[in-house]
Parts: sequence; C-alpha cells; structure tokens
Amino acid sequence: MIKPHGSEKLNPLFVFDEQERNELLKEAENLPSVVVSSSAAANAVMLGGGYFNPLTGFMNINAALNVAEKMFTTDGVFFPVPVMNILKSVSTIEGSKKIALLDPNVEGNPVLAVQEVEAVEEISDEQLNFIAEKVFRTTDTEHPGIANFLSLGKFVVSGPIKVLNFSYFEKDFPDTFRTAYQIREEIKGLGWEKVVAFQTRNPMHRAHEELCKIAYERLNADGILIHMLLGKLKKGDVPANVRDACIRKMVEVYFPKNTVLIRGYGFDMLYAGPREAVLHALFRQNAGCTHLIVGRDHAGVGSYYGPFDAQKIFKEEVPEGALEIEIFEADHTAYSKKLNRVVMMREHPDHKPEDYIFLSGTKVREMLSNGEAPPPEFMRPEVAEILMKYYISIKN
Ligand code: ADX
Repeated sequence: MIKPHGSEKLNPLFVFDEQERNELLKEAENLPSVVVSSSAAANAVMLGGGYFNPLTGFMNINAALNVAEKMFTTDGVFFPVPVMNILKSVSTIEGSKKIALLDPNVEGNPVLAVQEVEAVEEISDEQLNFIAEKVFRTTDTEHPGIANFLSLGKFVVSGPIKVLNFSYFEKDFPDTFRTAYQIREEIKGLGWEKVVAFQTRNPMHRAHEELCKIAYERLNADGILIHMLLGKLKKGDVPANVRDACIRKMVEVYFPKNTVLIRGYGFDMLYAGPREAVLHALFRQNAGCTHLIVGRDHAGVGSYYGPFDAQKIFKEEVPEGALEIEIFEADHTAYSKKLNRVVMMREHPDHKPEDYIFLSGTKVREMLSNGEAPPPEFMRPEVAEILMKYYISIKN
C-alpha cells in the first residue's frame, strides 16, 4: 500500500486512547483557553485525522514563510500550504505553555484540541501579504480565500497539538465524514491497491461523473474515492448535505457496484488553486490513494488561476519524489453532441465549440431555481431533482 506522506506510518493527532482522551478533556477544563478561527479548527480536524501527516501541530511564522516560499517546512518536510493557528487576541492565553483550543463551529464552544505553546508571535502585514501572494498568487481581498486569510488576526500560536474530537463533522455527516486513517484502513480492507481519488466541492455533474469513470478505466484502478469537502465554502456554493445526497444518488444509479467509496473530509475550502491541488494530493496519499484527478481549474475561483495551473504546478514546482501519489491529468470535459457522450475536448480536435453542450453555473442555477432540469447530457435527472428542491427551498 502507498506510504503516508513523510513517515512510514500514519500518525493522526487524535487521541485514540479513551482514558487518555478523557483525562486530557478534564485537564483542558482548567487550562487557559481561546476560541480559534474556523480555519484553525479545520486545520486541527485535518491534523487529528492524519490528513496532514507528518505535521505534529501548528507552524510558527518562520516555518509558514518557508512553506509559502519553498513548499518545505524548516524541518525539511514537503508541505504546500502553511498550517497555522492565527488569533485576533491572545489575552486569555498570555504566558501559558499549554492551552485549550475551543471550537468556533459548535454551540457552546467545546474543547477541540489541546496545544502546547512553543511560541506566540505577532505577524506583520508584510509577512501576511507574502504568504498570501505565494500561496494564493494574489492579495486581492475579493478572493474568498484571501478575504478569510487576511481577517484571521495577527497572533501566530505555534506548537504541537492533541486533538480530542472531530468538531461537527462526525455528528453532521456520520456516513460520510472519515479520517485519513479510517479511509486508509478501509482501502486496505477492500484489498484495493490502485485507488483514484476525486476531489469535489460540487454536486457532481455528468462531466465530474465521466471524469471519474475515465480515470478509473484508463488507470485500470481497483476503486474510486469520491472525497468531498464538508467544511466551509463561499456564499452561493451548495451545502454539503445536499451535495452528499446528489453524489450518493448518482453513484447508486450510474456506477458499477463496489467501485466507489463516498467519503468526506472536514476542511474549509481555501480556493488556492494550484497550491490547494498539491495539498489535495498530499492528503489523498495519506488516505491511501495512489492517484488524484486534477482537471480544469482545480480548487480555483473566479479567474485567479489559469485553467490548467493546478496541473502545471506538479510538473514545474513540486520536486521529483516529494509526493508518491500521482496525478491523473484531466482535460476540459464536456458532452459531445456528435458522439453522444462526455469526452475530453483535447482528444477531439475535429469538434467545434457548438458540438459541445456548455452551460454556465449561473444558467444552471437559474434553471434549477425555476424548477427546470438542465439537459440530462449535462446533469443526471436524479441529481437535478435533488438540486431543484434545494434551490426552490432557498428561494422562499
Ligand atoms: S474543486 O474546487 O473541488 O476543484 P469541483 O468540485 O468543481 O471543484 O471539481 C472537482 C474536480 O473536477 C477538479 O479536479 C476539477 O478540476 C475537475 N473538473 C470539474 N469540472 C471539470 C470539467 N468540465 N472538465 C475537466 N475537469 C473538471
């Protein structure tokens, strides 16, 4: 089986031993505490589940700058994005060596993790902008990832963490949320060697569905992991429970039995395009996958990234051997009216734009809100039905 990133064995930071966990929870009640940002909470959930292996906690400013610039931590670990706990105020934890991190996303702000504080540093605007520019390739506050990143605060609290639960993800998505550790075990149990992961934050359209099938066939893979983001998204994106329902229906009706695992992970979308694609690859390797599909404008938003920048970064910036997982490069995929199937466009140079069915996201949303299903070549009717109900419900 493919090895985790950076270590022989996966080392999730969740405290598995129940007694130890209860003791830590008890201890945490008396520790200085702070409600962290949703981004830091999502980082803790990812660290807890082993997705960010081999990191042991939150980076300090130096490590974050190094990661932003070179994609390596100061310890020489390949990592594409800084994993930080940035706070607006540290007044409640001043001088403390051990602190409780409180969950901003669960009512009552329960303890999510315990952190050993190695340093509390104040980050300058210059350093924040440097990180933003390197990771997101922009400092434009219209970019949703930047708007969030630059609003987190000025205090960087670094040091190792122990994670005590998985925030709201386990309760809200019991069938779908899984840690990297659990998925790795599941894949092992299934005896799958070659597993292709599909990252998604959307209800799956025909293009998404066919991308998975094409990759599965061409790679001669044993299985597909449809791995959806369950954390926070920008306004206007479809909520995770609705996407989950769409994906489950689509797989049930249109995929051969026992070829697909539908799972999700608890992370807030960064919209960092190429850098996020590399992060996506890294954590699928930790989950036991051998391949990740990277298609058009992977993890992108607006027009901040070129359509295939997320593929280019693997060839141009990720050092040889830094990751073991491989990329399945997908070209722009669309339904061909000439061939009556979804194809990768570069493989059909004889086609003209009008030979394809293209619909903009805005047009699709408008149709669905009006109770009108998009053409079945674009979206499966079963998926359209679920989405129509959702869009009509938010209209009223
Ligand atoms: S993402 O932000 O999670 O990347 P989305 O769920 O839309 O967004 O995409 C999931 C994956 O499918 C990404 O690898 C993306 O590049 C790819 N993809 C989506 N639509 C297409 C398309 N029409 N052609 C090629 N690749 C696509």
